[in-house]
Amino acid sequence: MNHLHKILSVCLLALAVVSCQKANQTRITQNFNDSWHFTLADSAMDASTIGYDHTSWRKLYVPHDWSIEGEFSREHPATEGGGALPGGIGWYRKVFKLDEATKGKKVYLRFDGIYMNSEVWINGHYLGKRPFGYISFEYDLTPHLNYGEEPNTVAVKVDNSKQPNSRWYSGSGIYRNTWLVITNPIHVSQWGTYVKVPEITKERALVKVQTTVLNTTGEPAKASVHTSIKDKDNKIVAEASSPLELSESEAVLDQEIIISTPELWSLNDPNLYTILTEISLNGEKVDTYTTPLGIRSFSFDQHKGFALNGEQVKIKGVCLHHDLGCLGTAVNTRAIERQLEIMKEMGVNAIRTSHNPPTPELLDLCDQMGLLVMDETFDMWSMKKSEYDYSVYWDEWHVRDLTDHIKRDRNHPSVFVWSIGNEITDQWHPVGDSLARELTQIVRSLDDRPITSAMNPPNKGNTIALSGTLDLIGYNYAHDKYESHNNEYPSTPFIATETTSALATRGYYDQKSDTTKRWPIQWDKLFVEGNPGNTVSAYDQVSTPWGSTHEETWKIIKKHDFLSGMFIWTGFDYLGEPTPYAWPSRSSYFGIVDLAGFPKDSYYMYQSEWSDNDVLHVFPHWNWEGRDSVDVWAYYNHADEVELFLNGKSLGTKSKKGEDLHVMWRVAYAPGVLKAVSRKSGEPVLEKTVITADEPIAVKLSPDRSEISADGKDLSFITVEILDKDNTPVPVGANEIHFSVEGPGKIVGVDNGDPTSHLSLKGDKMQMFNGKCLVVIQADRKAGEIIVRAASDGLKSGEIVIKSL
Ligand code: GAL
Repeated sequence: MNHLHKILSVCLLALAVVSCQKANQTRITQNFNDSWHFTLADSAMDASTIGYDHTSWRKLYVPHDWSIEGEFSREHPATEGGGALPGGIGWYRKVFKLDEATKGKKVYLRFDGIYMNSEVWINGHYLGKRPFGYISFEYDLTPHLNYGEEPNTVAVKVDNSKQPNSRWYSGSGIYRNTWLVITNPIHVSQWGTYVKVPEITKERALVKVQTTVLNTTGEPAKASVHTSIKDKDNKIVAEASSPLELSESEAVLDQEIIISTPELWSLNDPNLYTILTEISLNGEKVDTYTTPLGIRSFSFDQHKGFALNGEQVKIKGVCLHHDLGCLGTAVNTRAIERQLEIMKEMGVNAIRTSHNPPTPELLDLCDQMGLLVMDETFDMWSMKKSEYDYSVYWDEWHVRDLTDHIKRDRNHPSVFVWSIGNEITDQWHPVGDSLARELTQIVRSLDDRPITSAMNPPNKGNTIALSGTLDLIGYNYAHDKYESHNNEYPSTPFIATETTSALATRGYYDQKSDTTKRWPIQWDKLFVEGNPGNTVSAYDQVSTPWGSTHEETWKIIKKHDFLSGMFIWTGFDYLGEPTPYAWPSRSSYFGIVDLAGFPKDSYYMYQSEWSDNDVLHVFPHWNWEGRDSVDVWAYYNHADEVELFLNGKSLGTKSKKGEDLHVMWRVAYAPGVLKAVSRKSGEPVLEKTVITADEPIAVKLSPDRSEISADGKDLSFITVEILDKDNTPVPVGANEIHFSVEGPGKIVGVDNGDPTSHLSLKGDKMQMFNGKCLVVIQADRKAGEIIVRAASDGLKSGEIVIKSL
């Protein structure tokens, strides 16, 4: 969303009546999220007509995900693979008025995404359907609208009843933002600009801007198109004006604009320009449209790997699904930003939007934060992976959906690779060849960025790989094949589209004697190495048969320049796909960070390798009564050695040798204080202690931000710990915490990262899990102090104040 849109939507948010009176507003993009009515109606009701009485329905704001509000149960047809939450059919209705000044304008209703099978009506007129749950689309409401006192009614039916239709948790409903777009009859078309920067030197950048203008007047017209480029201080740095004859409904204009001494977009300094497109008729401005611009170049080389702005960069990526943990899939910009901040802090520089078009806010944030994006469209083509998935709609919809996806996203500087599919079953059949040709041809007709597909290891039978149409050979797992890539594909560079799939639960170390939390493992090939006697050991040792430990894959990628980089499965745990575990598990174990947003230990291995931060991470916790010995690991960087002490006595100094990514001591367990010191040339760099905790006595709350905006959307993520008498966090125990809030805010989610917990993620209580849990507070649209309290039986309550400004 560009700046202008943001400003307009904030100004107009509170109005029930949409007004066009401000003469200088040639285009209004108004947030349309408030005052919806909703019902979950699994019966065959029809609420599409104007007169339908929806007054008894629940009133809410979208983005809204009704599935996350349900109960976890193995009875839901989505199964635990889909998060063990309900689907069903939902209806949304909204009544709004347009003032008389809107007459003669074009009015469009834009949905960033509805999961799934949406159908939309305006004032009883059917506007259409969109089966794909991840695509953005808009309808022209103009012919069916009322103005003045007579209201308009939008009705939306969402059908997510046919399950399973996804291999992960999809969420249900109008789960992304909605917008009302009001323009003059002559205006820039939907996604109507396309910007490229084909030549970049220190002195100048050549910016090519293609603008598509729609003329809905039915009459020919002579327009002029003024394109100006503004830098981050809003100063115009270059501009161009051109006449445009509008005889037909749509006309396309190409302009070339030079920017002198351009400031580049890079990972450390994601400099953005804004392109302002102004359409005028007879000297009068009729439309204003903005497009982000980032000036950067990149290339993939068979031998040198990936380069951004001419400098070699290893792609240190993670795959992310779209859910936001306890918030479900309901889009919240701050929640996405927090995920990306946690990833950046680990050293991540790229995101793969597995396995679907993301919400537009994710791409805006990646543009702004300096993250590269592999933008993926499909998880299946014509052949299904689950009974009712997108393959059902493939024939009718794939051309439209792929085209819309590329057009929507191609101006984002963060997008560096298109992925046309993930582990597409068609790759093993002849149809894979023709579809790969068709899809790559569609993408190439719209953009020139490299195209890949996240294949299973290409071999002689892989028809997508054999089609020869991909710019990058991308495949998932099979890390033992990476090193021979250049022999097998000497003229197509490689990217590891998906790696690792290692399994871990945050704060959980006892792999061997684990009979309670994790349910019977279904595959006997899962490996757990060395766990002798009564020792706590074997961290980062549990993986899927197709994946690897975290260390294993990174060691290979790190070694060779030609391996451009990797996307780990996954950055965050996500709802659904607890593979290889089954019910009662209902969310994944693959994340480097758990569902609540708390890092697992492997996070710090990557951080020590991928980021510039000084890192020393020592684990596990130190409450092991009854155990003989405990393996203590440390991840560190920027130091030559680490010395470990137990209760003041040195247990020796260790250094990583060769390819090592951690050091380890096997320690005879005694309670007390474990201290690690990292040193460089004899000088201490960092010191970390892990202390045996006593009985818990108090609850402690730590917000990620104690000042938030009073905009009805902003969030504070509050970490809950329990402390002993010396303020040492207690890493064990399952105390139940009850939350309450006073003031202008509310609880919108609770979680603890336990993939087997069946407590509601939308309730007001949560159990401690391995020393932590989380409560998420959302600001109302009113400023004030939000007091958050956390109470637990037998413990001193915790209380904090969040300022909502
Ligand atoms: C891959 C797949 C991912 C996820 C992962 C789990 O094969 O592309 O979506 O299922 O396995 O390991």
